[in-house]
Amino acid sequence: MKGLLTLKTIPKDMINEIISLALDFKNGLKVTFPGKKMVTLFYENSTRTQYSFQMAMLNLGITPMSFNLAGSSVYKGETLYDTVRTFEALGVDGVVIRHTQDVYYKDLEGVGIPIFNGGDGTSDHPTQTLLDLMTIYEEFGRYEGLKVAMVGDISHSRVAHGNAEVMKRLGMKVYVSGPEQFKDTTGEYIEIDEAVRECDVINLLRVQFERHQEAMNITKEEYLEKYGMTPERVSRMKKGGIIMHPAPVNRGIEIHNDVVECERSRIYKQMTNGVFVRMAVITMALTGKL
Ligand code: CP
Repeated sequence: MKGLLTLKTIPKDMINEIISLALDFKNGLKVTFPGKKMVTLFYENSTRTQYSFQMAMLNLGITPMSFNLAGSSVYKGETLYDTVRTFEALGVDGVVIRHTQDVYYKDLEGVGIPIFNGGDGTSDHPTQTLLDLMTIYEEFGRYEGLKVAMVGDISHSRVAHGNAEVMKRLGMKVYVSGPEQFKDTTGEYIEIDEAVRECDVINLLRVQFERHQEAMNITKEEYLEKYGMTPERVSRMKKGGIIMHPAPVNRGIEIHNDVVECERSRIYKQMTNGVFVRMAVITMALTGKL
């Protein structure tokens, strides 16, 4: 299949090429694809991914189309495959898909247009990983030898799972931190206070209440105090260390209100970079490189 489904099968050189092209776009490179049209098929809510893909399309002269899930034939039982094939038959040149099902794209063999994964279940979110890498590269100029702590709701996070695999391949040491109930095998465990002292990147994760089977036995204030990023922890961060978060953020839970836009935070820069990495992956797909 064409497009970008996961980074797990993309070699390091290609990942570096995508980031390099995204940086070129940020520095003013102009590329256009007049007459092309693409659709964003989101079966799960999204602000950043959906609209930064649409912004990337507009910047590339591509006409973006939205999909109104509630008003669509999905509710008459149409499958994902049939919906995507329908848009292909209508003449779109690519689709961006977010779906609740892990690796949903296994069901899309036979689709001829590029597919861009905007997030699948708790498995992967490749353009989020790319924008996180771009942000890290801009900050440090390298990946090799950096230490990153994924902090919070690890087990429900496609960002933690997708980022960890690629970051390890690029030579970063990946730790995880947070409550016992959210632990998995994504990385070596580290206490939050050690993480802020030792790590170059504190990659906070949203507590994903909508995915929890059981309620957390802890108040929001207790969660922030035990596992979250407080101004006091920011004051103890490693020299040069940065804070990232894929957003949306839960202010007052995994991150204190005053930390969201503090000097160490790169949260809004990540969102800006998201437009450029999406321009890069669309361009590479439409020129036959992805
Ligand atoms: N970071 C991210 O994927 O945000 P959205 O869910 O708003 O797209």
